[in-house]
Amino acid sequence: MSSNIPNTSTSNNAATSVGKPNTRVDGPLKVTGAARYSSDIEVEGVAHAVIVQSTIANGRIAAIDTSAAESAPGVLGILTHLNAPKLNKLSSKKTVEDSEPLDPALLQSDKVFYAGQHIAVVIADTLERAEHAAILVRIEYNEQPHTTDIYESLTEAFAPKDVNSKPPDYKRGDTEAGLADSDVTLDEQYTTPTETNNPMAPFATLAVWSEENGEERLTLYDSTQGVNNVLKAVTGWLGLKQEQVRVVSHFVGGGFGAGIRAWAHTTLAALAALHVNRPVKLVLTREQMFTSVGHRPATLQRIRLGAKRDGRLTAIEHHGTSPASQFSQFEENLTASPRILYSCPNVRTTYRLVRINTNTPTFMRAPGESTGMFAFESAIDELAYKLNIDPLELRLRNYSERDEEQDLPFSSKSLLECYQLGAQQFGWSRRIHQPRSMRDGQYLIGYGMASTTYSCYRMPTQARARVFRDASSHQGVRVVVQCATADIGPGTYTVMRQIAADALGLSVDSVRFQLGDTRLPKSPVQGASQTVQSVGSAVHEACTKARCYLLELARKKENSPLNSHLDAEIGWGDGRFFVNGDAMKSQAYAAILKQNNLDGVETELTSQAGDEQKKFSMQAFGAHFVEVRVDEAIGRLHVARMVGAFGIGRVINPRTAQSQIFGGMVWGVGQALLEETHMDDAFGRYVNPNLGEYHVAVNADIKSMEAYFVDERDEHVNPLGVKGCGEIGIIGVAAAIANAVFHATGKRIRDLPITPDKLI
Ligand code: MOS
Repeated sequence: MSSNIPNTSTSNNAATSVGKPNTRVDGPLKVTGAARYSSDIEVEGVAHAVIVQSTIANGRIAAIDTSAAESAPGVLGILTHLNAPKLNKLSSKKTVEDSEPLDPALLQSDKVFYAGQHIAVVIADTLERAEHAAILVRIEYNEQPHTTDIYESLTEAFAPKDVNSKPPDYKRGDTEAGLADSDVTLDEQYTTPTETNNPMAPFATLAVWSEENGEERLTLYDSTQGVNNVLKAVTGWLGLKQEQVRVVSHFVGGGFGAGIRAWAHTTLAALAALHVNRPVKLVLTREQMFTSVGHRPATLQRIRLGAKRDGRLTAIEHHGTSPASQFSQFEENLTASPRILYSCPNVRTTYRLVRINTNTPTFMRAPGESTGMFAFESAIDELAYKLNIDPLELRLRNYSERDEEQDLPFSSKSLLECYQLGAQQFGWSRRIHQPRSMRDGQYLIGYGMASTTYSCYRMPTQARARVFRDASSHQGVRVVVQCATADIGPGTYTVMRQIAADALGLSVDSVRFQLGDTRLPKSPVQGASQTVQSVGSAVHEACTKARCYLLELARKKENSPLNSHLDAEIGWGDGRFFVNGDAMKSQAYAAILKQNNLDGVETELTSQAGDEQKKFSMQAFGAHFVEVRVDEAIGRLHVARMVGAFGIGRVINPRTAQSQIFGGMVWGVGQALLEETHMDDAFGRYVNPNLGEYHVAVNADIKSMEAYFVDERDEHVNPLGVKGCGEIGIIGVAAAIANAVFHATGKRIRDLPITPDKLI
């Protein structure tokens, strides 16, 4: 694997950390096992909880016999809907934070809506005894007919209301007129299957109750992408005050969206601990991970395109339908990308949901965009063949200079540079347009490409920075920066130190960054590629404010060497201020603090976007190029090369950014070729809820992978000039691979994953 790593340095201070490929500060902790994940945390007297799940997909629990389980060795208690405490409903306005107003998996009634719904929790003194007793719980059901097949209920599809994502229906111009006015049209259907997030570490909760000043306290060590989301849901359901509950999540073994919402098992762990009056640890099994923490919903999509002979698009329609559970409405940006990706006067998109008997779907790795862009960028490729125009050339002919959905200029857009750089590094010019025209011995060779784009999100975020004197530091001071964000793997611990170090003119070893605790300043979830944009901006602003405060303190003293100079003439680095061009005139932070009889200074603030979000459309863009090799005799396909080029604003850390993008591209290979959660419609149960039969891409599936970042300056997007760098890596990959498969074989695969049976 290789990449070009631009050194995107920043600001006029002396020590620049931003732009350097620092290694992960949490790396040694993780490889030595010193990092404590929620399931690793040890407390005195801990008991273990095991969840019993429904085996039917619809109906009621007629009877539960727990007598055998209760008398099994080591059992401390069993919770079912018959004895579980009654919980509060959350506010009826559905937000991500609210999760389900009242999740049926919280043991509040005898109703069963899907197979795998939690219906009992068995608590014992050891995990093995809890597992044994869980088998002894006898359940009788009144089973009702269920449906897990989205096609069965298509006529009952509905438009989601009160949506979190972009509105489900969108229209500009008149697509029927645009289609009538075109020379070439296309109308095709595409499908993608249910996929399961499958982070490496199964989610776990350790619940510890205590008492403080006569009031109950609950501490939850949880696997989550957002401790504040868990706090909100748990306090809501349990009817506790915010200050009674603390949620801690210092390390998480992946999430990929599964940890954005608060799920029922976390609250069940708290109820179990209350029930047996001991700390309780609850770890979901891999099989339970398929039914307890969401999944990517399947999609049915229809794309209609119209174009002039020269390739100019006259109409785009994108219609998408996905399943929802019986009791909740998860929705995603399935049909959002075609509204802005290319220039087109007539665009219409619709999005519908169909209720079936499954657990509620959730966010997964570019939720909506990655599946939506599979369909859309496949359709654009199909159009290229109908027009006999090179697929990259067709995209250039439809390049959009503005966001035509919002009718706004982009804050920055480097897609042209991405196309150019990606094509050049890949060798796109060697491509012969005719399908089945490139071959190497037994292999048919295909070149395919696709665009990618993802919105820039910035949510209000709080951060605190404390600069304090410390003689043991070579810079005389140290800094602790705090924010309740998460680091599920992208390198947040690392890049926040770099951002803080530069804002304060310190080296990264003088900076500590603390996260993953609701006692810290409030943060949005680590999701939607928004962490560096939101948390990074807050860290930058809090540290900048601390630096300005230190300068103010210095200026209070008449003898300061800085006083005869304007702020603009003063630089900062190595723990001191200095006059630009005259390094002899300088003053160390430690000396300033000492002069003012202070141990340190502290700042805390809320950072949020201003008007710029109304003036500009903010999107990251990129392009994927892939080469596939297909052995047609046995339907075997491998992705031989992948090249991606991306405009993601300033790159804080090229190493962790590249790693994020590689991760996305690998997931794209999984989505294109491997990942599929199979449903047995007769029983309404998943058939492959394990990593033996649910296949993710592994090292052996990846041959050569390159990721490039174009040098992109964005002065509007946020104070750091950064765009998101998570989901953009996966979006478009499945289409690029499917397009390469068509180029190699002449077979257009419109249903993911592209398995060998579809190629023979
Ligand atoms: Mo991501 S699916 O926003 O964790």
